[in-house]
Amino acid sequence: MSDILLVFGTDTGNTEEVAEKIQEQFSESGQVVEIIDVTDCSADRISEADMCIFGIPTWDFGGIQADWEDFKEELEAAELGGKKVALYGLGDQFGYGDFFIDAVGWLHEIIQPMGADIKGYWPVEGYEFTESRALSPCKTYFYGLAVDDDQQFEQTDERVSSWVQQILAEFELEQAA
Ligand SMILES: Cc1cc2nc3c(=O)[nH]c(=O)nc-3n(C[C@H](O)[C@H](O)[C@H](O)COP(=O)(O)O)c2cc1C
Repeated sequence: MSDILLVFGTDTGNTEEVAEKIQEQFSESGQVVEIIDVTDCSADRISEADMCIFGIPTWDFGGIQADWEDFKEELEAAELGGKKVALYGLGDQFGYGDFFIDAVGWLHEIIQPMGADIKGYWPVEGYEFTESRALSPCKTYFYGLAVDDDQQFEQTDERVSSWVQQILAEFELEQAA
């Protein structure tokens, strides 16, 4: 059984709720995911995991969720070389369309140079926003799953479910029959 670690930070609970949905979807496929609040995490715990999922909301016009910001140095001390990592972000595309899920871009900028094997890129179709730091150079993908519980809550379950199927394949995890 692979050691799959999901680390999240949150201000108002949405990113934690999505963490639980992701965990549930993995569990339906026979995979165990351990969820940790970033305030309880360490570089060592990330280093020992086989695969990681990081969840982060964006706050205050492109700002980084405070607990993740505090964790930056610890994250940079973790061993991520060659490790499969997937990102997801919470944001509000209509309220903050110039900064939609920017914090995912911030995480990507940190972990890519560390050699993480980043999976779970997600198409921009179905979202309306102007700018995002989390966009691939061709601007057709986010660097992770974009969840908008403020404006498109009704789509969250389906998005999580299809992203988890994508991750299971990209992490090369076996699925229960
Ligand atoms: C004051 C404020 C600022 C926000 N700034 C942004 C932002 O810059 N970009 C974005 O995509 N979402 C922004 N949001 C939306 C939050 O990211 C969204 O509500 C998210 O679901 C919160 O996640 P959490 O409950 O895990 O903290 C903002 C929300 C508020 C209330």
